[in-house]
Amino acid sequence: MKLVVYLYLSMIVLGVQAWPSVKRSFELFPNPAVPHNVHTVSDCMHVASEAGDYIFKKLNPLSSALNREVALLELEAAGGVGGAAGVGVGVGVVPGEGAATGTGADVQELQPEVCGLYVIGEPDTIVEITMKHYDANCETGALMAFVDGWELNGEYFPGIKDHHRPLEERVYEFCNNYRQWPRVSNKKFFRSSQNAALLQYRIPVRGSFVANVRFHKITQPCNVLVQDTAAMYKMTNFGQARNCTISALFPAVVSLASLRIGGKSVRAQPKVNYDCQLPSDRLEIGGSSGLDPIGMEQASAVCGASSDLGPEQAMFCGVSTVRLVSSGRFQNQAAIVLRKAEEQDLDIATLICAL
Ligand SMILES: *[C@@H]1O[C@H](CO)[C@@H](O)[C@H](O)[C@H]1NC(C)=O
Repeated sequence: MKLVVYLYLSMIVLGVQAWPSVKRSFELFPNPAVPHNVHTVSDCMHVASEAGDYIFKKLNPLSSALNREVALLELEAAGGVGGAAGVGVGVGVVPGEGAATGTGADVQELQPEVCGLYVIGEPDTIVEITMKHYDANCETGALMAFVDGWELNGEYFPGIKDHHRPLEERVYEFCNNYRQWPRVSNKKFFRSSQNAALLQYRIPVRGSFVANVRFHKITQPCNVLVQDTAAMYKMTNFGQARNCTISALFPAVVSLASLRIGGKSVRAQPKVNYDCQLPSDRLEIGGSSGLDPIGMEQASAVCGASSDLGPEQAMFCGVSTVRLVSSGRFQNQAAIVLRKAEEQDLDIATLICAL
């Protein structure tokens, strides 16, 4: 009898101990039978290069700031300051300013951080994001946004001037308005114009989302965000008047594998010109500390023709950029070889950005 009880007890104890690890392994290693990958979004800046479902969940942690707000509201109610009415007014605020519903000093502490799922695909793809589910209550200051490109510190890739869509159309904000009746469908569908897209979210209290990421091949890529640390990229304007940019988020060494940029007279010159003046078509090579190539410092501006591998040059900047500027009068094309810069590449540096 004693033995049975002991066994029983130890089973319970073991069971309890085993459960958390089982639960955790479920989250970490999704069932391989599931047809697509399931990823848990844990970092505030989460970079995603695989297709599949991305799941984010924030349970109500009853953070200290929130507790304080609740206490404050209770105080208000007790003092007969019309607490309930105060809440009503706060709630009616525009979703974008949701976090500003607090009073005075509280606002700063309640300002939650903006996080993002930064999606990047192969150079010749665009990103498709389907919101399978989202719970971001506007009334609690939660807000989500799809960005056609990447945004970091207020700068965008592709640059604001380089994109064919104005910024207002590139950023689509949304949240759940649970006051609205009937409730509208909780599904959303977005496509980017290049291989980079961003799903931003600010969820101060609690909320969740499931975003499905897919990539689609395109035939005429223009702006490309680089994820490989060594690769060759082909750039062409397809005869159009447009500027195309390749950016890498690391210091890079660039060389030209082949080149055909500019009109007949330019291409007829025996040597490639590394200092082409405006307004000719050219390949700008440089770097910047921010994402927008508009702010880039130029190391060289190349035009002419060659099929020989050109010299390497290193850019020591947070963002390395190669930009093909085309007036539309010529068929321009270039093949560039780009790799991550190492310390020994300082010898071939043509640009060192201020940090
Ligand atoms: C391309 O860039 C050049 C110079 O940076 C600018 O003058 C021109 O307007 C741009 N073209 C397009 C189509 O945006």
